[in-house]
Order: sequence, then C-alpha cells, then structure tokens
Amino acid sequence: MTERSLLVVVLAAGEGTRMASRLPKVLHRIAGRTMLHHVLEATRAAGATRTAVVVGPGRDDVAAEAQRVVPDAEVFVQTERLGTAHAVLAARAALERGADDVLVLYADTPLVRPQTLSLLRAPLAAGAAVAALGFLPEDPSGYGRLITVGDELVAIREDKDATAQEKAIRFSNAGLMALSGAHALALLERIGNFNAKGEYYLTDAVEIARAQGLATVAVLGEADDVAGVNSRIQLAEAEAIFQRRLRLAAMAGGATLVAPETVFLCADTVLGRDVTVEPHVVFGPGVRVGDDVVIHAFCHLEGATLDSGVSIGPYARLRPGTRLETGVRIGNFVETKAAHIEAGAKVNHLSYVGDAHVGANANLGAGTITCNYDGFAKYRTVIGEGAFVGVNSALVAPVTIGKGAFVGTGAVITADVPDDALALARSRQVVKEGWARAFRAAREKPKG
Ligand code: UD1
Ligand code: MG
Repeated sequence: MTERSLLVVVLAAGEGTRMASRLPKVLHRIAGRTMLHHVLEATRAAGATRTAVVVGPGRDDVAAEAQRVVPDAEVFVQTERLGTAHAVLAARAALERGADDVLVLYADTPLVRPQTLSLLRAPLAAGAAVAALGFLPEDPSGYGRLITVGDELVAIREDKDATAQEKAIRFSNAGLMALSGAHALALLERIGNFNAKGEYYLTDAVEIARAQGLATVAVLGEADDVAGVNSRIQLAEAEAIFQRRLRLAAMAGGATLVAPETVFLCADTVLGRDVTVEPHVVFGPGVRVGDDVVIHAFCHLEGATLDSGVSIGPYARLRPGTRLETGVRIGNFVETKAAHIEAGAKVNHLSYVGDAHVGANANLGAGTITCNYDGFAKYRTVIGEGAFVGVNSALVAPVTIGKGAFVGTGAVITADVPDDALALARSRQVVKEGWARAFRAAREKPKG
C-alpha cells in the first residue's frame, strides 16, 4: 500500500459564520495549531504524495497557511459554494494529473489521525472504488446516514433527504472519503444536484459507483477522530480531546504530569524523559524540554528550550527566545525573554531577564532587572560567567557585567563593569545616633 500514490484534497472553503469571528474557521487554533495545519499534518504522516487545498474566494490567508505547512500544496478556489462534490471538482486539475488513491478531507474536522486515514484508504488497495468513513454518534441527526448491507455500503443519505426509516440509522457519515484515482473524476462528474439542498453531494459518488458495478465500502472510525468544528463550543470540545491525546502521549514518553488535566500542551511541545510537570502549567508553541527537568506549578512557557536538569518556577514565565542550559534554576516570579542562560546559572526570585546573555554559574539576586527598552529600541545585557548581581539591581542596557564581577545590592548599573571588579551604584548610608529617640521625645511633649 505504501507504493500507491496519494492525492489529498482538503476542503477548506468553510465560512465559519457560526464562529462569530473575523478569522476564517479553519484558521482557528487547537493546541496552538490551526485546524488546517492539523489536517495537513495528518495527511503528511499518512503518506500524501500530493496535496490540493480548496479555499473560498479571496481567502489568501487560508492559502498562505496551507502553503506554509505544505510548501508544494496546490491551492484551488471554489468560487461558488455549491456542495461538497462541487468543492472537490474545484481541484479538477489535480485530479486530472491522476493518483492511485484520492482522499477527500474537511479542514474543519481537525482531529483525524493518520492511522484512521490509512484505515479509510485500505479498501482501495483491495479494489474498492469508494470508501466512506462512518462513526456512531450519540445523536446522528444532521449527518448523512450510511446505508449498508453487510460490509457493503449501498448509499449515503443526507439527513434532509432521508426517510423516517433511514433517519433511524445511527451509522453516520463522517464526511471523509477515499476514492480510487482511476474512477474519481468520472464519478464526480456524474453527480447532480437534485436533492433537498440543491447541492452537488460528494456522497452521491457511492450510488453512482454501484450503478457501474464498482465496490463501495464503509469503514468504522472513532467519534473523536471525526469531530467537526462549527462553533466556538465545538472548538473547545476539540481542544479538550486533543489535549487529552497530548497528555497521554507525554506520559507515555516518560514525563510525569502530576495533574494531567491542568497541564495544557501545544501540538509541537517536546518533553524529555523523567520530566516532572506540576499542576497548572501552560505550554505555548515552540517549547523543547530536555530530560530530568522539573517544572513547578503555575508556569507559562513559550518558544523556550530547556536543557537537561533545569528547574523552573513555581510561577515562572519563559517567553520566546529563552534558552536555559543544563542545570539552570529559574525561581518564582521570574520572566525571561530572548535570554540565553548558560549552565548552572541561577535567577531565583522576582527578576526580569530580557535580551540578555548570562554566563555559566552566574547568580542574579532577587529583583534583578535588565532595563532593555528605552521606549524606542531594545538593548542587550551581557553578564559574564560566575558574576554575582546583588539584590534589587537595575542593569541599564546596553551594558556588560564582566566575568566574576560583583554588583552591590540596590545598584543602577549604567556603565560596563570589568571582570572581577565590584560595582557599587547607590548612595552611601548615613547613620545619626540617637536621632529617633530625640524625634519621638519632641513629638510626645504635651502641647502648650
Ligand atoms: C457533510 C456530508 C454528510 C456528513 C457531514 C459530516 C455531503 C453531501 N454531506 O454534510 O454526509 O455527515 O458532512 O460532517 O458531503 N464545503 C465546501 N464547499 C461547499 C460545501 C462544503 O468547501 O460547497 C466544505 C465545508 O467547508 C465543510 C465540508 O465541505 O468543511 C462539509 O460541508 P458541510 O456543508 O458542512 O456539509 P454537511 O451538510 O455537514
Ligand atoms: Mg458540516
């Protein structure tokens, strides 16, 4: 089967009016990825040789997302929304070039897994002309019903066209369909629009194929795989299903999630072995975590790479461009951004480290702030290996703290500090012996 070429046609012309959004439906995100990206990722994993994406008129944003994910994807525009078969035929040029197998998918059915696509495609290798993916929803109303005799698929009846008897069938059409490349175009071209909706139904391919004596098959899939997204509520439901998959995969890969249902992962989150994630942690896009890392409760990470043995939080925020080398410790209420922190360095309390390079084993005291922005541009702070920055210091960038240097507590550092030097930048303390006692005595003296 791996020998067979596969053309994937993704229908992404959905309008998303029920999303109440300026954004086209298929660009809404699940676990940090657009729905369209999810579908394309599954088709890639299932071995797509060529990809065609059908978009609505003027949807350059959808086309751009498709080609960002699959650079050689062909984009076709369906100028009028006349039904699913009509939408597939918008990709006629791709179909004409031929493929052994054709898979039709919906971009608003983002949870489909590669193994389900392989299952759907398998009957084609065995000679079927059409295979439809069925599932058993709690409530089948609204879905096309799969009319079967034994293993054979006899017809797909749309809800609006179904008789009372047909409506009683629970086995429903998920919408995803596999077509033999040899027959796909001929079948699609024969589909008419004489039905309750006046649309060209892709599902009619089944009866047309059977009339020609071709084999048609229904394949049973899982309801989670075919959950369609038409509203923000369904988007949240799909997110929940996908988060559960990600958490299970993270745990199977050797991470301990103390309270899995409180950890939110991204589709691209990478966790090493023996990582511990405490409750209430959010992973944004682009996070890679090495082995033996501990992420304490209430952390938020995005675009960050953590090498092995790092510990962060509780309450740490790692922003994009953060790189923490082996054994780095980031403590509570610390924010990092575009910060490369070398092995063994510590930033344990209440700090902001942005646009910075921190050398190995440096220690940044509580409340160390890199002042990286003057309202117009960003500037870099460089802190040398083994440097020690005292508590509550403001490092006004651009500035360099030399290797092994000390910065005294409460400093405002505006000039470079040489290696192994001590920088003090605060006013000298004044002590007035007995002043407080005299002050109190003066105030407590009876009036008059
Ligand atoms: C379709 C199926 C139905 C199935 C259901 C599963 C048909 C005729 N019916 O019905 O059997 O149970 O999906 O959810 O195929 N689209 C276009 N252009 C069009 C029409 C649709 O791109 O002209 C896209 C939509 O954006 C959507 C998908 O095709 O992603 C399905 O279209 P939709 O109108 O939702 O079909 P349903 O009536 O739900
Ligand atoms: Mg639909």
